[in-house]
Amino acid sequence: MTHLIAIASGKGGVGKTWLAITLAHALTRHGQRILLVDADFGLANIDIQLGLMPERDLSTALAGLCPLAAAILHHDAGFDILPGRSGTPSLAAMAPETVDWLLRELHALAPRYDTILLDLGSGLAPALRRLAAAADSLALIVTEEPTSLTDAYAVLKLHAQDCPHPKPTHIIVNQATTPTAGQRIFATLAKACTQYLHTTPTHLGTIRRDDRVRDTIRRQTPLLTRHPTTPAATDAEAIALRLHSIEAIA
Ligand SMILES: Nc1ncnc2c1ncn2[C@@H]1O[C@H](COP(=O)(O)OP(=O)(O)O)[C@@H](O)[C@H]1O
Ligand SMILES: [Mg+2]
Repeated sequence: MTHLIAIASGKGGVGKTWLAITLAHALTRHGQRILLVDADFGLANIDIQLGLMPERDLSTALAGLCPLAAAILHHDAGFDILPGRSGTPSLAAMAPETVDWLLRELHALAPRYDTILLDLGSGLAPALRRLAAAADSLALIVTEEPTSLTDAYAVLKLHAQDCPHPKPTHIIVNQATTPTAGQRIFATLAKACTQYLHTTPTHLGTIRRDDRVRDTIRRQTPLLTRHPTTPAATDAEAIALRLHSIEAIA
């Protein structure tokens, strides 16, 4: 069974794309077959973070110029990528029918993969909500910034409305000063969810703030290749392991 996981956040710049790449890499190392989809419609940047120059992408397939599978490229680190494209109006204002087309295409490709990771754009755009609601689970990234927390709560609130049957929701605290601070942020968010949304997310883990993340993005190389033992790499590996075990028993 293929797991479709949406990686989301309320606020932008929290580290979704970097983490989506790093989780794809870590899960590949656990033997999983991974497809990483750039679903930040209109502001794609997985290709930039990895230094790729795709000839085809989601917009090419959407325009009917190639099948979706033909836009997928294989990264040396062992996982597949469906790149997006920045500044493309057809992606930026994606209609519900187009989101459903993408979901059907992804389901057709699903037998090739154990996990499909969707790197979503930030916020509450209808296309992103539709994708998140169709995924098997949601991984929501927050940081210690109060605005990130309030925006995350807003996403969880709408997600609960979009999913009549509650789906697993995981919280990842990124760029944390300490693991204890991460735990505190999760506890604040979980308390609000339990109290007002009657759902309880799980804490998938905390990733410490680490300057090597910036370095790896600047060098357009995956963190687990360039700095495999740096704190952010160790923390992301632990999260991938937890995700792997959750999927194994699901
Ligand atoms: N754990 C971390 N430590 C330090 N910087 C981080 C960490 N995670 C992400 N960043 C920085 O945050 C910025 C935004 O990351 P990005 O993946 O583009 O976020 P998003 O996809 O949520 O917009 C990047 O410049 C990256 O270097
Ligand atoms: Mg991003």
